Amino acid sequence: MKPLPGSQPDLGFAPLSDAFADDPYPAYTRLRDYGAPWYFADYDIWLLSRFDDVAAAAVHASCVRSPEAVMTPDEIAAQQVRDNWHDMPHHSRFVQFSLLNADGEVHQRLRRMIFNEFRTLSLQRLHAQTQAHVDRLLDAVIDTGRMDFIEDFAARVPGPVIGTFLGVPEEECGPLRQWSDDIVQYFDIDRSDARKALAERTTTEFYDYLLRLSDDRRRRPKDDLISRLIARYDAGDLSEDDYISTCMLILMAGHGSTIDILGNGLAALLAHPDQLQRLRADPSLMTTAVQEMFRYDAPLPFFHRFAAADIDFNGWQIPKGTKLGLLYACANRDEATFPQADRFDAGRTPNRHIAFASGAHVCLGNHLARMELDIVFSTLLRRLKDIEPTGAAVRRRGLSVRGFEALPVTFRAA
Ligand code: HEM
Repeated sequence: MKPLPGSQPDLGFAPLSDAFADDPYPAYTRLRDYGAPWYFADYDIWLLSRFDDVAAAAVHASCVRSPEAVMTPDEIAAQQVRDNWHDMPHHSRFVQFSLLNADGEVHQRLRRMIFNEFRTLSLQRLHAQTQAHVDRLLDAVIDTGRMDFIEDFAARVPGPVIGTFLGVPEEECGPLRQWSDDIVQYFDIDRSDARKALAERTTTEFYDYLLRLSDDRRRRPKDDLISRLIARYDAGDLSEDDYISTCMLILMAGHGSTIDILGNGLAALLAHPDQLQRLRADPSLMTTAVQEMFRYDAPLPFFHRFAAADIDFNGWQIPKGTKLGLLYACANRDEATFPQADRFDAGRTPNRHIAFASGAHVCLGNHLARMELDIVFSTLLRRLKDIEPTGAAVRRRGLSVRGFEALPVTFRAA
């Protein structure tokens, strides 16, 4: 067993730089080639970069999400103040707490509460609606021959899908995207007071909306998640915090990441015209192509865990209290697991990528996300031809998200 290395080489790891936003993969290769966990002082975290290490941490019972396992309540409170996460009553009840950040029995109870909602059978009902919605979005731009794929298309895809899943009526889905953006922006490293106020105000607005919607569903239950959750809340099976935080998590988890992977997926196809051609010639490859989009350029590249005990894995001794960074996107390019890992291969099998995590927190929405991508890319390839990038694509910056702010393209109707 080897202890975590003492001195650290400078690997030129600068996740807020423009170069990293343009292409993080050379930096990820340096981390993997280093061959050991690497201490990233800016985040006070040990980064795991190789597939086997990331996968081992994701499934390890003592690698947990919540700081409660490694810090006292006073230490957590002091940390909240340092991070400017304090004095946000609704945000801390419904966003900072959620099943994503819970462990053990609390996590299992919350996860079980919504697990069935994500079964394939329930998703089949969403398929026709999603297809109709995607066709409408394309109808609006198809005669123009150009669009910003992000603003004019991708950003409009997930709102109504998540809305229908939760039970938000179609005509009320408008604000969902802004609510999600305004709440999620505070997970970024810019924790100014103005951004903090926006996150708290928006959380409160969404909370008030969910209370109004719940009252309506109490009187007139429908076949949707909110009707089922409010019935269980009224029966005393779950608390208001459980119920509201879960609805907010589903809105946030399913929104930005879907927009980002739609852009990343299209950019991957445009950068690999042979694979785009292959997919057009054989649409039965869509399932593997979608999986490859998640592997090749994962939209959620990084999540943390805490070591809740002294642990050993893959030859490393990790002391209790260590904060670990699981670099899912970096692990997905590990040559030891994926031959020709830097190559986008629309027919790649097997493809055991870890873009949806693994273990206790494995993404509950992965079937839904893959269904949305399948519908979008099948429709794009059927209805458009000669799709070409045009003008300047703009990447989002940061370590926690990977996507585009703008991705202008031209095309012709097929
Ligand atoms: C579109 C691409 C998506 C990606 C790449 C993605 C990725 C992930 C990852 C990596 C995690 C685990 C985080 C960790 O390791 O701590 C996660 C958790 C989760 N995701 Fe997704 N997700 C996506 C879409 C969705 C959608 C559409 C929904 C729901 C509608 C969703 C719902 C959830 C939930 C509820 C969790 C928490 C699971 C738990 O903590 O037990 N995700 N997702």
